[in-house]
This record gives sequence, structure tokens and C-alpha cells, in this order.
Amino acid sequence: MTWRATVLTLFPDMFPGPLGFSLAGRGLATGLWSLEARDIRDAATDRHRSVDDTPAGGGPGMVLRADVLARAIDAVPDLEGRPRLVMSPRGRPLTQARVAELAAGPGPLIVCGRFEGIDQRVIDARQLEEVSIGDYVLSGGEIAALTLIDACVRLLPGVMGKLESSTDESFSAGLLEYPQYTRPQLFEGLPIPEILLSGDHAKVAAWRRAEAEQLTQTRRPDLLAASRHPVCQKPPKNA
Ligand code: ADE
Repeated sequence: MTWRATVLTLFPDMFPGPLGFSLAGRGLATGLWSLEARDIRDAATDRHRSVDDTPAGGGPGMVLRADVLARAIDAVPDLEGRPRLVMSPRGRPLTQARVAELAAGPGPLIVCGRFEGIDQRVIDARQLEEVSIGDYVLSGGEIAALTLIDACVRLLPGVMGKLESSTDESFSAGLLEYPQYTRPQLFEGLPIPEILLSGDHAKVAAWRRAEAEQLTQTRRPDLLAASRHPVCQKPPKNA
């Protein structure tokens, strides 16, 4: 079975969007993976096809109705055994480790939130896993879903060349990527570090490792701490 993403959204036309381009787009066109964007509004039952209502207890904005979203989820065929995600800034932060797990499975259902949020009861009743792509707030879950799918798709066999896999390992190992250089040898007076032109593969590897460690130490010391305690990166079950 090919890996597939099923997206529930109020804006199905946003898909595949940028995923129709470059290597992900070629993989999509050649059947290495598939994507289905389903309109949540198709699960509305009233005359106005309404999907949202005012928040209980008052406050601004609108909340996605539990009954409508539940119907949209239940209408997805073959959901058994697939992860059910909902994109949300209050979710567990997405990591490369979780991306790798999702890429290794059958492919997720992804619910995209809009408005002020989603009725909590459908998150609980359908056991949706809330996932955040970072500590900032987007206007909806669609761009977050596209981001998550892109991160998964580039790990699927055949989508990327072999070259890419080594850089994944470097991030999964908890380090930021070392700096890269190419021609010209001199750019605005700046040379390529001499060691990279030495042809000594062992020395180049050691230099890159040291650069990666230094960069990670300065920019993301939290990654170094996490790689020293790999067990801490695993989310507890059912949390
Ligand atoms: N929806 C809005 N903001 C988001 C974020 N940071 N991550 C995931 N989904 C979101």
C-alpha cells in the first residue's frame, strides 16, 4: 500500500498546493504517495451547511462543531490503524522522530482547525492527537498540515535521492547541519574553508562534526540535552 494522507479541511483547494511541486510533487504524480483533501462542510446537515457556532461560555470567534466534524471523520473509509491528528498550536511539538514514525506507517488522517478552535468533545471522542508545528499561531491548520506532510513525504522510499538520508540522520542524531559551500572558491573576498578542499575525507568529516556541534551548542542547546537523554524525546502513551 502506498503512503497516503487524508486531510479534513474547510479549504480543500489549498491541497496539494506547494506539495504539487518539486520532488514531493513528482512523487505524488508518480504514485509514490497519495493525498485526499475532504471538505468538512460536506458533513453539514442544515440548510446553510453550517460547521461552526459561538463558543459556549461566551468569547470571540467561532468553534468548529463536534457533531459535524465527527461525521466528517466517520465518513473517511479505511481509517482503522491510521494515526488521527489535529493540527493545533496547543499540540505536542512535532519532532523529526515523530515525522519518521508517521512516514513509516500507512499515513495519517489530519484534521485542520479554523476559527477559535474545535469542540473538545470530538477531540476526546475520536481520540485525535493534537500536533503543533511551532510556538506561533497560524490562521488555520492547513499550512501546518502541509508542513507535516512534506516532512513525511521526503522520507518515503523513492521520493528523494540517497543524498538526503544522511542529512536526516544528522538531525535525528540531535545536531544542526554543518555549513555547506560550493563554487566560486572566493565569494566577495570570503574563501571556502581550506580543509574542505584538502581531499582528506576523515578530516572533512571531523571538521563537519565539530561545526555541527558548535552550531548546535550556540543555537539549540536544548537539542544537545535531548540527545544525551534520548528517552525524554519519547512522548508518553496516551498523553
Ligand atoms: N494551527 C494554528 N497554529 C498552529 C501551529 N503552530 N501548529 C499547528 N497547527 C496550528
